[in-house]
Amino acid sequence: MIIRSPAAMSRRTVLETAGLGGMAALASPLNRAHAATPAGAIRLAPAPATTALLGTGRLRTRVWAYNGSVPGPVLRLRQGHLFQSVVRNGLAEATTVHWHGIRLPNAMDGVPGLTQKAIPPGGQFLYAFTPPDAGTFWYHPHADSARQIGHGLSGALIVEEPHPPAIDQDLLWVLQDWSLEGNGQLLPGFDSFMQAAMAGRLGGLVTINGRVPTPVAVQAGARVRLRLINACLARIMALRFTGHRPRVIALDGQPVPHPFEPAGGRLLLGPAQRAEVILDASGEPGQRYAVIDDFYGPKLTYRLAEIAYAPARATGGHAADAPLVLPANPVPAPDLHDPIAHTLTIVGGMMGGMGSGQRHIWGIESGGRMDHRMAPAFTIPRGRTCLITLRNHTAWWHPMHLHGFSFHVLSRNGIPEPHPHCRDTVLLAPRDTVQFAFVADNPGLWMFHCHVIEHQENGLMMVIRVA
Ligand code: C2O
Ligand code: CU
Ligand code: CU
Repeated sequence: MIIRSPAAMSRRTVLETAGLGGMAALASPLNRAHAATPAGAIRLAPAPATTALLGTGRLRTRVWAYNGSVPGPVLRLRQGHLFQSVVRNGLAEATTVHWHGIRLPNAMDGVPGLTQKAIPPGGQFLYAFTPPDAGTFWYHPHADSARQIGHGLSGALIVEEPHPPAIDQDLLWVLQDWSLEGNGQLLPGFDSFMQAAMAGRLGGLVTINGRVPTPVAVQAGARVRLRLINACLARIMALRFTGHRPRVIALDGQPVPHPFEPAGGRLLLGPAQRAEVILDASGEPGQRYAVIDDFYGPKLTYRLAEIAYAPARATGGHAADAPLVLPANPVPAPDLHDPIAHTLTIVGGMMGGMGSGQRHIWGIESGGRMDHRMAPAFTIPRGRTCLITLRNHTAWWHPMHLHGFSFHVLSRNGIPEPHPHCRDTVLLAPRDTVQFAFVADNPGLWMFHCHVIEHQENGLMMVIRVA
């Protein structure tokens, strides 16, 4: 496995770095060898740090960071090869690492009080798993999550295909948003009741790979693979690539069997969701094209990034007709003839469903009950197909995430999904009903929750058991 500072990199640099292997590629002084560290394990050290969100030479922001960098180092794993990481907690509070979207053994899932004890300050924990799927994933704490993720703790986790498709440029954008005060420091208030009862904490500053975006250089004629990770606490994005026609090749780390252009050229990306797109650089040399986020309507539309074409065209490069389809991952196909079916209903929020006197702002009803404890709401016999009908009875959007599985999204509001795909996080608009199914092949206690972290922390979560 390879670990690198988060930056756009070409396929060539990736291959060059691969030659260094494991520990040799670690540059940070925090990554000293440690007695209890198995050979080849990656050291991750969450700790306070400062970073230049606003750009080099500008005010530095006090953050919490893995190995001193925001976002954390890009972890590049190999599909089907053992990955080990020793996490040493340099924070003043307990933490864990959750490997979002990876289908891994339950004990490695990083949920405190459910799959492990939280790692105390100064303590450490060894994570070890073999990723079955190639794709774009991410890692983040699962303890005091709004505060810890909101202080900068998250990073990209990329599982490389054994035979990557032919492209000219590999770009990775980890998207985060921040609420800063005038002095460049984070605004307090990761537990505001009003925010939690509405859309969650939305930061006015959006960064790409931990920096205010600078123009992204491409060459006319090049084929670009862009990996997008929405690591925001609450911000939903709807990206438009002006002058371009991006094609989606993977969602939440799972290749789509038939790549497609997003509806209306607008790529929706909720918190925790990932998308991989192929961008054929069809623009003109020397020109600039904006990437726009218009999710929150015309008044709040902003330019996320700018694609800046070099004066010269790319020469050679990929074959224009090279296939876009990524090799499929071994996600089992659901058997919908006799599924274990459950209906879950999201309730709560401002103007929504939950009665007064409730301790929690949000909830998920299952079988007429609502459990906020870490006790499982129901058990699915191992190996059976589980069919979930998920109803959003609130006035708010929710990116709903299931640990441990990639599920097949079947329909939305009764209409079959036009493009078959698997996800680990599905975005529901107000009043939406979504159906999804998965084979419950992975035993353990698994969380299902909203990835607007303040919704999760205020009751929008449950646990299911596979046994
Ligand atoms: Cu990305 Cu339970 O989380
Ligand atoms: Cu997860
Ligand atoms: Cu939510």
